[in-house]
Amino acid sequence: MKNNIDRRQFMRLAGMGGVVFASGLSGFNPARALGGTTGSDGSAQGSDFFFVQLSDTHWGFSGPAINPDAQGTLRKAIAEVNALSDQPDFVVFTGDLTQTTDDPSERRRRLAEFKEIVKDLRVKTVRYMPGEHDAALDRGAAYKEFFGQTHYTFDYEGVHFIVLDNVSDPAAALGDEQLTWLAQDLSQQDRLQRIVVFTHRPLFDLAPTWDWATRDGARAIDLLMPFPHVTVFYGHIHQEHHHLTGHIAHHAAKGLMFALPAPLSVPKKAPLPWDAAAPYKGLGFREIEQDGHSNPITELPISATRTALL
Ligand SMILES: [Fe+2]
Repeated sequence: MKNNIDRRQFMRLAGMGGVVFASGLSGFNPARALGGTTGSDGSAQGSDFFFVQLSDTHWGFSGPAINPDAQGTLRKAIAEVNALSDQPDFVVFTGDLTQTTDDPSERRRRLAEFKEIVKDLRVKTVRYMPGEHDAALDRGAAYKEFFGQTHYTFDYEGVHFIVLDNVSDPAAALGDEQLTWLAQDLSQQDRLQRIVVFTHRPLFDLAPTWDWATRDGARAIDLLMPFPHVTVFYGHIHQEHHHLTGHIAHHAAKGLMFALPAPLSVPKKAPLPWDAAAPYKGLGFREIEQDGHSNPITELPISATRTALL
């Protein structure tokens, strides 16, 4: 919860946390820039808080050589989050909630099951967005029945969050309509506003031949560029990855069903096989703190000893 950063940092130093990525990449302190005053909206900079990002749960996936615990991994991840000594202010799932299927009724069954399982989270504020597995075959129709709009904004403790949909269009584009909506939203923000973007695919060209790009993502980045304090969190590539476009940091999260190889590291992109000697290797989730100065990220694993009993 809020105002517990010191204790959380102490816990990490004591070796109880995961791997911390000290993201100073987007570090910018509006209060400092304003000579130590409050933010441009006249309010305080907001309380310290943190949220948890989970991604690419691919509910409905089947492939014992890739993940023999396909039915249990999501539940274990939820148990891991529920076991955190400090509960996050909210949880965000950055797409590919379900594994793709050609069958519309099966797609809905998977979305319904996913939604039911996620109800077990202790944290009751959960944000969602689709991945191409959820939404590309019906332009988000089934997804919207269960989770509502595929792009939206919300504000929390002085941070403006923007959820972008780069998956409902099977061409992997945001599209003119959404970009116009984004421009309109940003036109209402102060230049010093702290902004966090959630999306599924990378907005930049990480590996276009592997579908690790957004066709018109550069237009979104151009719109965000005038804002000095923007950070992007995304999924899709099933591994941790950090990249800068100018001053904007982009952080990819691990997945929760299978890992994928490093960008363009092999001729053909394919899930990495399960390692019986290191169960859940390459899978995990992350905590992201918002302290007004930076966005420290803590990468957390799925424990092989964690039971899914809640
Ligand atoms: Fe995925």
